[in-house]
Amino acid sequence: MDKNFYITTPIYYPSAKPHMGHAYSSIIADFFARFKKIDGYDVYFLTGTDEHGLKIQRAAEKKNVEPLKFCNEISQTFKDLSKTLNLSNTDFIRTTEERHKNSVQKLWNKLEQNDDIYLSKYSGWYSVSDEAFYNEDEIVEENGKKLAKSSKSPVEWMDEESFFFRLSKWEKSLLKYYKENPNFIQPNARKNEVISFVESGLKDLSISRKSFSWGIKVPNNDNHVIYVWLDALTNYISALGYPDTNSELFKKFWPASIHLIGKDILRFHAVYWPAFLLAAGIELPKKIYGHGWILSDDEKMSKSKGNILDPLEIIQKYGLDPLRYYLIKEVSFGNDGNISKERLEDCINSDLANNYGNLCQRTISFATKNCENRIPKEINFIDEDRLILDNFTSNIDNIRSQIDNQNINYYIDFIVNSLFAANKYFNDQEPWKKKDDPIRLNTIIYTTLEIIRKISFMLYPIIPEISLKALKIFNIKEDQINLDSIAQHDYLNLGDKINNIGILINKIEKNKENV
Ligand code: ME8
Ligand code: MG
Repeated sequence: MDKNFYITTPIYYPSAKPHMGHAYSSIIADFFARFKKIDGYDVYFLTGTDEHGLKIQRAAEKKNVEPLKFCNEISQTFKDLSKTLNLSNTDFIRTTEERHKNSVQKLWNKLEQNDDIYLSKYSGWYSVSDEAFYNEDEIVEENGKKLAKSSKSPVEWMDEESFFFRLSKWEKSLLKYYKENPNFIQPNARKNEVISFVESGLKDLSISRKSFSWGIKVPNNDNHVIYVWLDALTNYISALGYPDTNSELFKKFWPASIHLIGKDILRFHAVYWPAFLLAAGIELPKKIYGHGWILSDDEKMSKSKGNILDPLEIIQKYGLDPLRYYLIKEVSFGNDGNISKERLEDCINSDLANNYGNLCQRTISFATKNCENRIPKEINFIDEDRLILDNFTSNIDNIRSQIDNQNINYYIDFIVNSLFAANKYFNDQEPWKKKDDPIRLNTIIYTTLEIIRKISFMLYPIIPEISLKALKIFNIKEDQINLDSIAQHDYLNLGDKINNIGILINKIEKNKENV
């Protein structure tokens, strides 16, 4: 089996600066990318910005700047955020780049050649905020305003000449595909929503607009621009060099291992995108995972609602890794989750500082005093040592398969439980009482150091900076981290020097708050 892994985030609208929801998707994607990397995979991790369409054109008009200039500025803040979040992304695509435009037009040509496109007229509801068409039964009226039921965004009536994609033609093939590939859409509840939507009947999809100009031109027709979702979805293959399906990147990484998205854009990814690909004769991605929403006061955080927690503010105050840890741990993956500073602080103090930080600190300071600042030389494992070490060995395949099922909660629970077990082991073994039995004392310290090493390897995808800092104890560098070795009990070299790294994680003093 080739060990290639291609993961994508949604490409975000640069209509306003990024918020915690964007940071969330990106951090989760980075977690998977880094996990696969330390498991020996060749990883392609793509993120970027989705810059065309009426939503962006209007946002630019409001600021009185040219759309491209507007996008350049905000896209840069997304690019900066990817650095601030320490994302390991391979590429950052902008849909205003030539490589992308060319790719979209070539895909259009392909769909046209295959007789999947025709010219007609669209009359119906459209939400500019969602860049989505809605059926009559998907609209509600609130305070005299028509809104999309699902997103609560305002809709406007649209009536114009438009090219259509023969979506209805692909209804049966899609249903067959969902059935034959039960993991294609995840989590399962989302899959069921998609299936019932498709079963209720697909109408052909309007895929061009005539009444504004900010988009990629329809080939051979200057009056129409391509529907922004057809444009945007293509990023996943334009980044790999489509239409050149023989390019190195395309052959290696397509089909994508997983498109990670929020549940708000499931229909586009799980219905439209596979239909476009089927029509163009391109393989379908292996999985679409629609995660839940980050809520603030029980509401979806969004630009239009103004209830936004700014990731930059949080990072400045608490640091990046605590935020990464918190988002990965506290939001039960797949579901919606409320976040609060209070819970973030608890998380830093209990899990990171008390559990992980303390384990490192007490072990190092004991080893400094009693083992000459070295990894103990003479050791002899007994059952208690093997038991705690073997838990990693016997679970490694399980850990891999849990991650392949996006069971992040399992992964993090495993780490937290291992930390508790390690602290308990240290207490129970009472190395401080073993000064007249140096081999036993040495073995306890060796075992604890091995566990710190294993857990730090496992924490690397979640909190890379803190994990690397902890691994300085052993002079282990980033490119030496590999998942396989958590099954190994003799990774650390007997007698090697260990470094005192000082305090790993600072506790938050909660009563000093209210600044
Ligand atoms: O939809 N909680 O861009 P977008 C969790 N350009 N995740 C959230 C979130 C929240 N409160 N708010 C946003 C678009 N997200 C299109 C995508 S892809 C070909 C085109 C995340 O800027 C989540 O991943 O509105 C969601 O799907 C995405 O940002 C939407 O970002
Ligand atoms: Mg949105």
